[in-house]
Amino acid sequence: MVIVVFLSRYNALTVTSLFCRCKDKSYRTDLPVASVIICFYNEALSALLRTVHSVLDRTPARLLHEIILVDDDSDFDDLKGELDEYIQKYLTGKIKVIRNTKREGLIRGRMIGAAHATGEVLVFLDSHCEVNVLWLQPLLAAIREDRHTVVCPVIDIISADTLAYSASPVVRGGFNWGLHFRWDLVPLSELEGPEGATAPIKSPTMAGGLFAMNRNYFNELGQYDSGMDIWGGENLEISFRIWMCGGKLFIIPCSRVGHIFRKRRPYGSPEGQDTMTHNSLRLAHVWLDEYKEQYFSLRPDLRTRSYGNISERVELRKKLDCKSFKWYLDNIYPEMQVSGPNAKPQQPIFINRGPKRPKVLQRGRLYHLQTNKCLAAQGRPSQKGGLVVLKACDYGDPDQIWIYNEEHELILNNLLCLDMSETRSSDPPRLMKCHGSGGSQQWTFGRNNRLYQVSVGQCLSVVDPLSPRGSVAMAICDGSSPQQWRLED
Ligand SMILES: *[C@@H]1O[C@H](CO)[C@@H](O)[C@H](O)[C@H]1NC(C)=O
Repeated sequence: MVIVVFLSRYNALTVTSLFCRCKDKSYRTDLPVASVIICFYNEALSALLRTVHSVLDRTPARLLHEIILVDDDSDFDDLKGELDEYIQKYLTGKIKVIRNTKREGLIRGRMIGAAHATGEVLVFLDSHCEVNVLWLQPLLAAIREDRHTVVCPVIDIISADTLAYSASPVVRGGFNWGLHFRWDLVPLSELEGPEGATAPIKSPTMAGGLFAMNRNYFNELGQYDSGMDIWGGENLEISFRIWMCGGKLFIIPCSRVGHIFRKRRPYGSPEGQDTMTHNSLRLAHVWLDEYKEQYFSLRPDLRTRSYGNISERVELRKKLDCKSFKWYLDNIYPEMQVSGPNAKPQQPIFINRGPKRPKVLQRGRLYHLQTNKCLAAQGRPSQKGGLVVLKACDYGDPDQIWIYNEEHELILNNLLCLDMSETRSSDPPRLMKCHGSGGSQQWTFGRNNRLYQVSVGQCLSVVDPLSPRGSVAMAICDGSSPQQWRLED
């Protein structure tokens, strides 16, 4: 049996100067020990082993209590005997394998793993990760300081095609009223403390796959909602519960874990049910109070949809004496826009911003380096919902002029904002009215001339550089030629 484990030993070098300041930090030696829980379902054996090896290689043995692998009734043969044999032959006695006899899904799978864990801290990882050097100490240090603190590492990007590792910008978790997770830029005020960009960042929500939490606190706080199926929504549910019931949630910029991003989610549900909707409904009914109307106004079809029995979770919320969702919005996520009767005083939309119009940082053509073409509206630039495509650059044409402003918006011809649907990330970006609330309309220019969409965490890419259609779409950032752009005067 030959198993190739892809471990890029020099990944630490690729992380930016932020990492240098992180390297200067020291951590106390009496940190709590961790149980690392990894659930997998039909994972590539090499990806799973890459995850396990990186944890073993890059975690001080005294801090690693155990690694618990939860096999969620996978079909692949090599995840059975071959995996057991490999563990027995090459890996230390710290690894436990638990095999579910039927599909439980990621949510109940994590609860099963946690029930078998005996370390003081639980660390949940996806099964296709590579932890970076010094990844665990910053997480454990924050939890040691306050056991009601839940922490997430920064999720770096590993390309599914090349396995190349690249650092992500530091962003924090948010959500939209479709109850989809999104990334937000970190407000500058959060980065201006004495520790600067290495300090923990308060995050309204977590992405879900990677986090660490005191084990007893996980149990006291009600683990997960076991009425949720397979996958989806559980990350928002636990995030709201943490904040509303007296805990805190942070992203730790000095802890970095690479994650392989794939186009297709392998963790599908057995009969292809829409578990995301079922789970979101449960969380809306338990946690959102009057704000569930925000969700139903986007999804009126769900008003009467059944969501099972939530009485235990409602009881839990009472028992833990949790605060209201209004408190959460006011105190933890004041940036969230609310419409209808619960609306806060609205931030004016772009057209009406008047004197508060955000400062223009740059103005010019959005030039695609590989094709020598420019990004423009497919139809009229004033057409709301219109697509953008590559066209021959026309230096006299105001319809090809983009403004990039301090809100990180890209505005074409002074009219509409480049917008990426947060609910259907397979859709291409479109031109929409500027809403001024970040998220789907926030873009940043980064390394390798990339144009990064903050809320979906992907880069703008030309679908087929040889095609005259010039279609663009969002894709996992990989630094390739189709993803290179420059805003030129
Ligand atoms: C819902 O669950 C609770 C306890 O989990 C139970 O007491 C109650 O009877 C259930 N309600 C319905 C309608 O099944």
